[in-house]
Formats: sequence, C-alpha cells, structure tokens
Amino acid sequence: MEPDRSIGMLEICRILESKNISLKKFKALDLFARKGDWQTYVYANQVATIEAWEILPEFEAELNQNLPNAIIRITDSILELKNGFSNKYDFIVLDNPQNTFGENHEYCEHFDVLPHIHQLIDKKAIVIFNINKNPFNIEKYEKWENRRNQFYGKEEPKNININELAHFYTQYFLDFRLKTNFNFAVFREECKPLDYLYYFVFEIEKINYYD
Ligand SMILES: C[S@@+](CC[C@H](N)C(=O)[O-])C[C@H]1O[C@@H](n2cnc3c(N)ncnc32)[C@H](O)[C@@H]1O
Repeated sequence: MEPDRSIGMLEICRILESKNISLKKFKALDLFARKGDWQTYVYANQVATIEAWEILPEFEAELNQNLPNAIIRITDSILELKNGFSNKYDFIVLDNPQNTFGENHEYCEHFDVLPHIHQLIDKKAIVIFNINKNPFNIEKYEKWENRRNQFYGKEEPKNININELAHFYTQYFLDFRLKTNFNFAVFREECKPLDYLYYFVFEIEKINYYD
C-alpha cells in the first residue's frame, strides 16, 4: 500500500499553529512540486500566495488541478537559483528527490539549494527540507556517498542523530548570516527497520537585517 505522504506536512502545520504561527500571511514557494498531491496541497490553500515549481512538464496539468491557487512554473529550480533568482518568500519547501539527480547527476538531496536559500529571504522565513538520516543502499552509489561526505564533513554520514543534525544545520545557516529562531523535526518515512526520512523545519532570520 502507498504510504500516506501528507501526514508529515499535516503535523508540521499543526505544530506551527500551536506556536501561534498562522499560515495565512505566508508567501510560499515549493521548489520540487511534482503533482502537488503528496504534501504540497496540505498547505497550498492555507497560505496567502504559492508558487510551485517542477522540472517535468508532464506534471503541469495535474499541478494546476491539485493546486488551483498556485502559480505553476515548469523549470529547473536549482538552475534558477544558481542563475540568481531572488524574489522573496517566507515559507519555502524543498521536497527534493533523494540520492543524486539531474541530467548528469549533478545535484544531490538539498545540498545544491541550501547555499542559495538566503537569496529567497527578505527578513525571515520558515524553511522545510528533507533529511535522510539513514540513506539505505548508499554504498551502491559512490557519487551520492561522496556528496554526503562532503556536505556533512565526515565519513559514513549514516544514522546521524537528529539533535546532531539540528546543530549541524544551525551552524550551516550561520555561515550565511542566518540565525535559527526555532527548529523541529517531523518523522516522514521508514524503510523497515530503519527510520530514514524526516522533515526539518527551521525558522531562519537574517542577522543585522536593519544594518
Ligand atoms: C519528492 S517529489 C516532490 C513531491 C511533491 N512535493 C508533492 O507534494 O507531491 C520531487 C520532485 O522534484 C522534481 N525535480 C527533480 N529535479 C528538479 C529540479 N532541478 N527542479 C525542479 N524540480 C525537480 C521531480 O521531477 C519530482 O517531481
């Protein structure tokens, strides 16, 4: 049976509401939207505006159907960011594919998006991204393994503890002069017996915004 992929995003929305954060005011950007029916639809009709980007044109019609209030763009999100796209959003979701991806496997997980995230933020934003804490079968994918080693700065970045990861990303954002106001993780998927996929939710804010 297909897993219900909306559960994690529903939980995120519930936790944000419990923090008195209303989704209503947000300008949202979903960088990897597919058909939008796994989890984007959960928050799409709650935010003020939403743009949903997806690389594959065959998903466009269903995206329009599933996210009737969204501006849909068929584009390479990572290339857009690399080319300097800098419109501002305050709710940014990166539901990227796992492993390496792209025509020449030039991209990996969220590693090519996060270095550009500050471009998309005016003052502060909620950023939601996938964390793969147990990449199963990674030994079969040398490029993936190398990219993870490079990104996390250690050999064998497997079964990383969630607290350690929260600390890692807090430091990571600081390098881009983004401080973390709060963060939390929400379980997403398991490949029994391993839990592997989590959402990380970070509220990050530009340091010295008014300087
Ligand atoms: C995990 S799925 C996203 C699921 C979606 N959030 C939902 O709720 O249904 C990842 C999507 O990213 C798309 N994708 C892969 N590379 C991309 C890129 N460079 N730019 C934009 N989308 C990309 C894939 O085609 C795939 O549809």
